[in-house]
Order: sequence, then structure tokens, then C-alpha cells
Amino acid sequence: MTKIKNIDDCYNASHDEASRQGYVSLMRKFIMNDISKLMRQDYDKEVKPDFFSKETRFPSSGEEVRQSIEKTEIYKFWSSLRYNAQEMVWESVRKGVEREIPNLISIYNNALKDKSRLATLELNSDLAMPDYVALRDVHLMPGCWQNEYTKDDLSQGAMYAHGGSVFRGSFMPSKKRSGVASSVSKWLSIRYPDFNPTNILEPGCTIGNNLFPYLEIYPNATLNGVDLAAPCLRYAFSRAVEKGIKANFYQQNAEQMSFENDSFDLIVSSFFFHELSVDATKKVIKECYRVLAPGGILVNMELPSSSQVDPYYNFYLDWDNEHNNEPHYRDFRSQDFQQLLNISGFDFNNCFNVTIPDIGGSSAKYFSDVALGKTEPPKHGNYTSWCLFGAIK
Ligand SMILES: C[S@@+](CC[C@H](N)C(=O)[O-])C[C@H]1O[C@@H](n2cnc3c(N)ncnc32)[C@H](O)[C@@H]1O
Repeated sequence: MTKIKNIDDCYNASHDEASRQGYVSLMRKFIMNDISKLMRQDYDKEVKPDFFSKETRFPSSGEEVRQSIEKTEIYKFWSSLRYNAQEMVWESVRKGVEREIPNLISIYNNALKDKSRLATLELNSDLAMPDYVALRDVHLMPGCWQNEYTKDDLSQGAMYAHGGSVFRGSFMPSKKRSGVASSVSKWLSIRYPDFNPTNILEPGCTIGNNLFPYLEIYPNATLNGVDLAAPCLRYAFSRAVEKGIKANFYQQNAEQMSFENDSFDLIVSSFFFHELSVDATKKVIKECYRVLAPGGILVNMELPSSSQVDPYYNFYLDWDNEHNNEPHYRDFRSQDFQQLLNISGFDFNNCFNVTIPDIGGSSAKYFSDVALGKTEPPKHGNYTSWCLFGAIK
């Protein structure tokens, strides 16, 4: 039997499963690169001129692009393949995760017995789930973030860990991408060299993928993760125990957190706000303002707002709104992020909205020049650059 080293290794794909996962990653790459390019060519050659001949102008919003492109064969082909590939991502790892449920639980139960108490976990089984996670399987992941099938279940955390690798495999065939947290923390260290946070919070932390890397730049900080989903928090906590780091995980709704005012000097989030209702995003940002210490920084990695990109890219990004169980996507992106921060208490002059390159996919000089505003930032793109909005309190 294979020796299990840690919770992330608690997964053994069979030959056929590994081959299926490789296939799904490559199929996604084919859809998102090759077929997307053909669809764009068809749009420029046929759909856009056709729109112009009827309206004497070009489509001015993502919605107008969507309505005109939806009738084309290439769009139908691309969209249905993309939807099926998304389901296949989860399906390709589900059985392997289910097989490991007893082992996952046993690793977690051992982590609970850890004597160092460097990592902590506070669960609240009475926490009410808001509709935006309770009513649907976000990202088409069966069971969403929070569903539990047995006592001490971690399987949704494991689904996200392993399904995420299949999903990202299509964008990251080489090791040349470092991801959000490594990029953002490096950007912070260049942009604000005297800033040295000691207490970092991530609302919507899931399994800590984009929380743990902050220790590379701020090794003395304590990490804190808040999430609604117990299975993901158990997984994140088990990882923290294995790493022997100071990290606290809380099952809470980020709309109303239990922390004292001014508790954290850095609050980060990634891939989080677009899944919340617009009303909830406002409440969470207000809470972030409340629990952030004066002089502290809030930095959120998100999709670009619709005003930052052209109508075609808006259509392309907002596909998830109708087809990926993410019905708040478009409304979230249509907000003015700086105004969102401003109505939550942040001074307008202390807000930022920038795009940075991925630290692993760019030269150190280019990365630093972008951070210092010496050169043009990159365009937003799949895992090659990150849009950030945030503020200093
Ligand atoms: C897309 S995932 C975030 C991914 C994670 N930040 C990362 O970078 O890997 C969204 C997470 O937000 C959590 N979530 C959604 N609404 C929340 C809320 N109101 N309070 C706390 N967590 C929430 C979900 O349970 C889920 O784990």
C-alpha cells in the first residue's frame, strides 16, 4: 500500500482515472485556447459586421455580444463543450476522493490531536448557509463547498484540491505559473516595502491555497482563514498542522465575523467576491473595513470589472453567469470596485485597482517595474496576470 505522507497525497488515481484527468485538462485547453480563437475569428468576420449592418454600430456590451453570438454554430459548439468539460473535471476526481474518505478523516482526526496547538479550528454546525451557496452547486462541483456526507467529512475540500489541479492543468501545462498569493505577496513587498503584517485574514479561504503562500514573504505572520464550509476548513486545518504553522480557521459567514475591530493588518481574498450576491459583497467589504487595523491593507484578487475590458471579453468572462452556476458574476463585475470600497468606509484616495503579472510567468524586472508603476501593466488573461482591487485603511 502507498504510504500517505500528507493530506494532499491522500489520493491515488488509478491508471484509467489519471488518463481521464489528463484528457479533461487537455480538452479544456483545446476549448479555451483553440476553439476560443476560432470563435473570436468568426465573431470579427461574421457576427460583428452583421450587427453593424443592422444597427450601424458595433456591440457595446457583453450582453449585446452574447445575444448576437449565441446563434452561431461555433458558439454552441464551444459553449456545450465547455459546460461538459467543467462537469468532467469534477467527475474525473470524484470516485478517487470517495475512496479516500476514511483516510482523509483519519488524517484530520490525527491533526486534531496535535499537541503543538499552533493551528486551530473553530467549527459552527449551526451556521446558516446563505442562498448563494445553499441553492446550487457553484462551479458545477457536486456538493458545492459545504455539503457533508458523513461525520467529520472533508471530501468537498479534497474535491476542490484535486479537481482544481485538473482544471488549472489546462492553463498551467508547465511550472511557469506561481499563482495568486505568491504574486500578490511579492507585489505588496515591492509596492509597500515597510509593510510587515503579523496577522493576516482571508475570508473565503476554502482549503488555504492562496493563504499559506503569504508565509513566503511574511514568515512571522499568523494566518487566519474564514469560510462557510466545514469540509474545506477541516482540509485547510489538516494542512496547517502538517506544515507546523500558526494558522487559525473559523467557520463563519464573512458578512458578519466575530473578530474585534482593527484585528488584522492584512486582509486578502481571491476568486471570492464574484460568487456572492451583490448585497453580500457590500456587507463583507464593510466587515473587512471594520476588522482591518488603521494603516492595514485589504487586497482582493478578482475578475476585472466590466468597465475595464472590452465588450467581447465581457461576454467571454460572463459565460459563467449563465452556465457555471455563478449567477452573481455579471452583477458583481458591473460594479465600480473603488466605489464599493468607498461606501464601506475606505478613503477614495487610498483605493487601488491594478493588474499585475503572475510572478512565476514574468521576469523579476518586469514584475517589479509593474509594481512600481514604471511600465504598463499586463492585460488580464488566464492565469498569466491578476486583477487586484483594494485599499489602505
Ligand atoms: C472560489 S472559493 C475561494 C477560493 C480560495 N480563495 C482560493 O483562492 O483557493 C469561494 C469560497 O468562499 C466561501 N464562501 C462563500 N461565501 C462565503 C461567506 N459569506 N463567508 C465565508 N465564506 C464564504 C465558499 O465556501 C468557498 O470556499
